[in-house]
Amino acid sequence: MPSSRLLPSLAISSPEVPPGTSRRSFLRMASLAAALPVLTEARLAWAAQQAASPRLSPFKFPVPPNANTVMINANENPLGPSEAALAAVAAAARTSGRYDATGVQDKLTSLLAAEFALPTDHLAIYAGSSDPLQFTTLAFTSPTRSYVTADPTFESGAEAANANGARVLSVPLTSTCAHDVKSMVAADPHAGLLYICNPNNPTGTLTPREDILWALDHKPAGSILLVDEAYIHIANAPSVIDQVALGKDLIVLRTFSKIYGMAGLRCGVAFGRPDLLGHLALYGSNPLPVTAMAAAVASLQQPDLVPTRRQIITDTRNSTFAWLDRKGYKYIPSVSNCFMIDTGRPGREVMAAMQQQNVYIGRNWPIWPTSVRITVGTPHEMAVFQTAFDKVMNAPISA
Ligand SMILES: Cc1ncc(COP(=O)(O)O)c(C=O)c1O
Repeated sequence: MPSSRLLPSLAISSPEVPPGTSRRSFLRMASLAAALPVLTEARLAWAAQQAASPRLSPFKFPVPPNANTVMINANENPLGPSEAALAAVAAAARTSGRYDATGVQDKLTSLLAAEFALPTDHLAIYAGSSDPLQFTTLAFTSPTRSYVTADPTFESGAEAANANGARVLSVPLTSTCAHDVKSMVAADPHAGLLYICNPNNPTGTLTPREDILWALDHKPAGSILLVDEAYIHIANAPSVIDQVALGKDLIVLRTFSKIYGMAGLRCGVAFGRPDLLGHLALYGSNPLPVTAMAAAVASLQQPDLVPTRRQIITDTRNSTFAWLDRKGYKYIPSVSNCFMIDTGRPGREVMAAMQQQNVYIGRNWPIWPTSVRITVGTPHEMAVFQTAFDKVMNAPISA
């Protein structure tokens, strides 16, 4: 599946500084942000399901067709929020007649700042990490400052760059499915933003920390590096948040949607120098749901939560890999909660056939049309997946 081909790039004009705070640029940014579709994983996953099987009603989103449906198509965590987080949600809901009666935003900010030994102004909380991913892209790309990304990877930023009139330069992953940082850095001397997703969605593979630090040191002048660590807890890989304290041109994203199981509650964080975060703030700074922030605080205060969940996901993933090995199916070994499986036939057809078995998988990426992403569900869900997948792969696919 991996290829070393660099996708073609177009000619570009002169560099431009990131947008300032003039009224004109503020209005342009505000109208862009308003026009931007909400590009969450769930929306992208559902759009892919509909593309695979147009008979699906768009109105079913995001409700599964029935309780027996296995939804392993959007990199969600079937464990959901922890019991402590659920109790915190209930308590916070009672105070939610006010914007933030208990100061939960300050509390969450302080906890995160202490965890990463950063001043509190070096992080900003959002309702998930989709917002800061898109805001960073809008702030640091433009028609003259491109967006450099991997292929395949999470495409929400690329969509935002497109909406911003920026060119998107896609660099295939290396043969080990790491980001090809040398090619990414060389892709455009006037790049505005380089996006590295570590571990990567959809491959669940890692880019070595030293490669990311190399990119940070060698990226084009005036560009920003955006490192998306949505899945890093699951991989237990080294973070680059420590580089934020060194004043680098770096923004790092984290989310409570994955290991903490809070995708529907919505809480995420952007780490960066205050001047960089200031650019993101121009795109919106709504008060945040106190329920989500209370759940995030409760989750951070449970030291055993991350290692316990990491173990559960790792065990379920590895036993699925053992089954795939026994059956002779090809896949990319992953250290995350998702992996790519090589179906040897159009991935969309397999997605559609799996839908008929009430198992929702996907998405697939144009660069690898015969591969499909699978999210690691519960052991029961993966058992249902195995039965359905075997059935689909052993039967001719009807149109
Ligand atoms: C790599 C990556 N970044 C960011 C997000 C956005 O997640 P959320 O907005 O739920 O924090 C996702 C969602 O799946 C993702 O896969």
